[in-house]
Amino acid sequence: MELPFSQACENNKDFILAVLLRHFAKPGRVLEIAGGTGQHAVHFASLLPWLHWQSTDIPANLACLNVRIGAAALPNLPQALSLDVTQPDWTVAGFDYLFSANSLHIMPQSAVVDFFRPLPRVLNGGALVCVYGPFKYGGEFTTPSNAQFDLWLKGNDARSGVRDIETVLALAENADLVLLEDNPMPANNQLLVWQKR
Ligand SMILES: C[S@@+](CC[C@H](N)C(=O)[O-])C[C@H]1O[C@@H](n2cnc3c(N)ncnc32)[C@H](O)[C@@H]1O
Repeated sequence: MELPFSQACENNKDFILAVLLRHFAKPGRVLEIAGGTGQHAVHFASLLPWLHWQSTDIPANLACLNVRIGAAALPNLPQALSLDVTQPDWTVAGFDYLFSANSLHIMPQSAVVDFFRPLPRVLNGGALVCVYGPFKYGGEFTTPSNAQFDLWLKGNDARSGVRDIETVLALAENADLVLLEDNPMPANNQLLVWQKR
Protein backbone atom coordinates (compact mmCIF):
# COMPACT_ATOMS: atom_id res chain seq x y z
CA MET A 1 0.00 0.00 0.00
CA GLU A 2 1.28 3.48 -0.89
CA LEU A 3 2.16 5.65 2.10
CA PRO A 4 -0.42 8.36 2.82
CA PHE A 5 1.06 11.84 2.32
CA SER A 6 0.18 15.42 3.23
CA GLN A 7 2.31 18.31 1.93
CA ALA A 8 1.01 20.50 4.79
CA CYS A 9 2.49 18.03 7.30
CA GLU A 10 5.86 18.17 5.59
CA ASN A 11 5.74 21.96 5.68
CA ASN A 12 4.71 22.34 9.33
CA LYS A 13 6.37 19.41 11.12
CA ASP A 14 9.68 21.10 11.97
CA PHE A 15 8.01 24.30 13.17
CA ILE A 16 5.78 22.19 15.43
CA LEU A 17 8.81 20.14 16.55
CA ALA A 18 10.50 23.30 17.82
CA VAL A 19 7.56 23.92 20.18
CA LEU A 20 7.29 20.26 21.23
CA LEU A 21 11.00 20.25 22.12
CA ARG A 22 10.27 22.92 24.74
CA HIS A 23 7.13 21.30 26.18
CA PHE A 24 7.31 17.54 25.53
CA ALA A 25 10.76 17.46 27.10
CA LYS A 26 10.50 14.63 29.64
CA PRO A 27 9.74 10.92 29.16
CA GLY A 28 6.02 10.24 29.05
CA ARG A 29 3.05 8.92 27.12
CA VAL A 30 1.58 11.00 24.29
CA LEU A 31 -1.97 10.65 22.99
CA GLU A 32 -2.29 11.90 19.41
CA ILE A 33 -5.86 12.52 18.26
CA ALA A 34 -6.59 12.52 14.50
CA GLY A 35 -3.21 11.16 13.40
CA GLY A 36 -4.11 11.44 9.69
CA THR A 37 -1.23 10.30 7.46
CA GLY A 38 1.06 9.47 10.40
CA GLN A 39 3.76 11.85 9.17
CA HIS A 40 3.66 13.83 12.43
CA ALA A 41 3.68 10.65 14.54
CA VAL A 42 6.73 9.24 12.73
CA HIS A 43 8.62 12.54 12.71
CA PHE A 44 8.02 13.33 16.38
CA ALA A 45 8.45 9.76 17.68
CA SER A 46 11.78 9.43 15.88
CA LEU A 47 13.15 12.81 17.02
CA LEU A 48 11.69 12.73 20.55
CA PRO A 49 12.62 9.14 21.48
CA TRP A 50 11.87 9.69 25.20
CA LEU A 51 8.18 9.80 24.32
CA HIS A 52 5.84 6.83 23.84
CA TRP A 53 3.69 8.17 20.99
CA GLN A 54 0.21 6.62 20.78
CA SER A 55 -1.50 7.84 17.66
CA THR A 56 -5.24 7.39 17.08
CA ASP A 57 -7.83 8.16 14.44
CA ILE A 58 -11.37 7.29 13.45
CA PRO A 59 -11.85 3.67 12.26
CA ALA A 60 -12.14 4.71 8.61
CA ASN A 61 -8.62 6.23 8.65
CA LEU A 62 -6.87 3.67 10.81
CA ALA A 63 -5.56 1.24 8.17
CA CYS A 64 -4.05 4.10 6.18
CA LEU A 65 -2.39 5.62 9.27
CA ASN A 66 -0.99 2.25 10.33
CA VAL A 67 0.70 1.67 6.98
CA ARG A 68 3.08 4.54 7.69
CA ILE A 69 3.46 3.67 11.38
CA GLY A 70 4.23 0.04 10.49
CA ALA A 71 6.78 1.07 7.86
CA ALA A 72 8.57 3.30 10.39
CA ALA A 73 8.97 0.39 12.85
CA LEU A 74 9.92 2.66 15.75
CA PRO A 75 10.06 1.13 19.25
CA ASN A 76 8.18 4.08 20.78
CA LEU A 77 5.45 4.25 18.10
CA PRO A 78 2.92 1.42 18.43
CA GLN A 79 0.11 0.77 15.97
CA ALA A 80 -2.52 3.50 16.09
CA LEU A 81 -5.73 2.88 18.02
CA SER A 82 -9.28 3.67 17.05
CA LEU A 83 -10.56 6.86 18.66
CA ASP A 84 -13.55 8.84 17.42
CA VAL A 85 -13.95 11.78 19.78
CA THR A 86 -17.73 11.69 19.32
CA GLN A 87 -17.95 8.21 20.85
CA PRO A 88 -18.62 8.47 24.58
CA ASP A 89 -16.34 5.77 25.98
CA TRP A 90 -12.77 6.53 25.05
CA THR A 91 -10.78 3.46 26.09
CA VAL A 92 -7.54 5.41 26.56
CA ALA A 93 -6.23 7.06 29.76
CA GLY A 94 -3.07 7.88 31.71
CA PHE A 95 -1.39 10.28 29.28
CA ASP A 96 1.25 12.90 30.12
CA TYR A 97 0.86 14.70 26.79
CA LEU A 98 -1.79 15.26 24.12
CA PHE A 99 -1.11 16.36 20.55
CA SER A 100 -3.59 17.06 17.75
CA ALA A 101 -3.07 18.94 14.49
CA ASN A 102 -5.60 20.24 12.00
CA SER A 103 -8.48 18.38 13.60
CA LEU A 104 -10.80 20.93 15.26
CA HIS A 105 -11.73 22.66 11.98
CA ILE A 106 -12.46 19.31 10.30
CA MET A 107 -14.86 17.94 12.89
CA PRO A 108 -18.26 19.51 13.64
CA GLN A 109 -18.48 22.01 16.52
CA SER A 110 -20.31 19.39 18.63
CA ALA A 111 -17.30 17.10 18.18
CA VAL A 112 -14.97 19.88 19.33
CA VAL A 113 -16.97 19.81 22.59
CA ASP A 114 -16.53 16.01 22.64
CA PHE A 115 -12.79 16.43 22.05
CA PHE A 116 -12.26 18.39 25.28
CA ARG A 117 -14.88 16.87 27.60
CA PRO A 118 -13.05 13.60 28.50
CA LEU A 119 -9.63 15.19 29.03
CA PRO A 120 -9.86 15.50 32.85
CA ARG A 121 -10.10 11.70 33.02
CA VAL A 122 -7.76 10.86 30.10
CA LEU A 123 -4.82 13.09 31.11
CA ASN A 124 -2.57 12.87 34.15
CA GLY A 125 -2.24 15.91 36.44
CA GLY A 126 0.26 18.40 34.95
CA ALA A 127 -0.15 16.92 31.44
CA LEU A 128 0.72 19.21 28.53
CA VAL A 129 -1.64 19.63 25.58
CA CYS A 130 -0.60 20.98 22.14
CA VAL A 131 -3.28 21.71 19.53
CA TYR A 132 -2.27 23.05 16.11
CA GLY A 133 -4.50 24.68 13.52
CA PRO A 134 -6.14 27.91 12.34
CA PHE A 135 -8.47 29.93 14.61
CA LYS A 136 -10.65 33.06 14.50
CA TYR A 137 -10.15 35.83 17.08
CA GLY A 138 -13.10 38.04 18.07
CA GLY A 139 -15.06 36.43 15.24
CA GLU A 140 -12.49 37.56 12.66
CA PHE A 141 -10.22 35.45 10.49
CA THR A 142 -6.54 36.24 11.00
CA THR A 143 -5.98 36.52 7.22
CA PRO A 144 -8.06 36.59 4.00
CA SER A 145 -6.60 33.20 3.09
CA ASN A 146 -8.02 31.68 6.29
CA ALA A 147 -11.44 33.12 5.34
CA GLN A 148 -11.11 31.41 1.94
CA PHE A 149 -10.00 28.20 3.63
CA ASP A 150 -13.12 28.33 5.82
CA LEU A 151 -15.34 28.66 2.73
CA TRP A 152 -13.51 25.75 1.09
CA LEU A 153 -13.98 23.61 4.21
CA LYS A 154 -17.69 24.41 4.36
CA GLY A 155 -18.00 23.53 0.67
CA ASN A 156 -16.76 20.03 1.54
CA ASP A 157 -18.74 19.69 4.77
CA ALA A 158 -21.07 22.43 6.01
CA ARG A 159 -20.39 21.41 9.63
CA SER A 160 -16.65 22.02 9.43
CA GLY A 161 -14.93 25.38 9.70
CA VAL A 162 -12.24 27.45 11.39
CA ARG A 163 -13.12 27.63 15.11
CA ASP A 164 -13.43 30.65 17.38
CA ILE A 165 -10.47 30.68 19.74
CA GLU A 166 -12.70 31.99 22.55
CA THR A 167 -14.96 28.91 22.31
CA VAL A 168 -11.99 26.55 22.27
CA LEU A 169 -10.37 28.30 25.25
CA ALA A 170 -13.62 28.06 27.23
CA LEU A 171 -13.93 24.32 26.47
CA ALA A 172 -10.31 23.83 27.56
CA GLU A 173 -10.89 25.80 30.76
CA ASN A 174 -13.87 23.55 31.56
CA ALA A 175 -11.57 20.55 31.02
CA ASP A 176 -9.16 21.80 33.74
CA LEU A 177 -6.61 23.10 31.23
CA VAL A 178 -4.64 26.30 31.85
CA LEU A 179 -3.45 28.10 28.69
CA LEU A 180 0.34 28.50 28.68
CA GLU A 181 0.99 29.74 25.13
CA ASP A 182 -0.70 30.74 21.90
CA ASN A 183 2.16 30.46 19.38
CA PRO A 184 1.70 32.05 15.95
CA MET A 185 2.90 29.54 13.35
CA PRO A 186 3.65 29.74 9.61
CA ALA A 187 0.77 29.50 7.12
CA ASN A 188 -1.63 31.40 9.42
CA ASN A 189 -1.88 28.68 12.05
CA GLN A 190 -1.54 28.69 15.83
CA LEU A 191 -0.07 26.18 18.24
CA LEU A 192 -1.95 26.33 21.52
CA VAL A 193 -0.29 24.90 24.64
CA TRP A 194 -2.17 24.10 27.84
CA GLN A 195 -1.31 22.38 31.09
CA LYS A 196 -3.77 20.29 33.07
CA ARG A 197 -4.27 21.50 36.62
C1 LIG B 1 -7.03 17.40 8.07
S1 LIG B 1 -6.80 15.82 8.78
C2 LIG B 1 -5.41 16.16 9.85
C3 LIG B 1 -4.56 14.97 10.02
C4 LIG B 1 -3.19 15.22 10.70
N1 LIG B 1 -3.36 15.47 12.11
C5 LIG B 1 -2.46 16.35 10.04
O1 LIG B 1 -2.21 17.38 10.66
O2 LIG B 1 -2.15 16.20 8.86
C6 LIG B 1 -8.16 15.69 9.91
C7 LIG B 1 -8.15 14.41 10.71
O3 LIG B 1 -9.24 14.45 11.64
C8 LIG B 1 -9.73 13.13 11.79
N2 LIG B 1 -11.07 13.17 12.39
C9 LIG B 1 -12.22 13.60 11.80
N3 LIG B 1 -13.25 13.43 12.64
C10 LIG B 1 -12.75 12.88 13.77
C11 LIG B 1 -13.33 12.44 15.00
N4 LIG B 1 -14.67 12.52 15.20
N5 LIG B 1 -12.55 11.90 15.94
C12 LIG B 1 -11.21 11.80 15.73
N6 LIG B 1 -10.59 12.20 14.60
C13 LIG B 1 -11.36 12.72 13.62
C14 LIG B 1 -9.69 12.61 10.35
O4 LIG B 1 -9.81 11.21 10.27
C15 LIG B 1 -8.34 13.14 9.89
O5 LIG B 1 -7.30 12.24 10.19
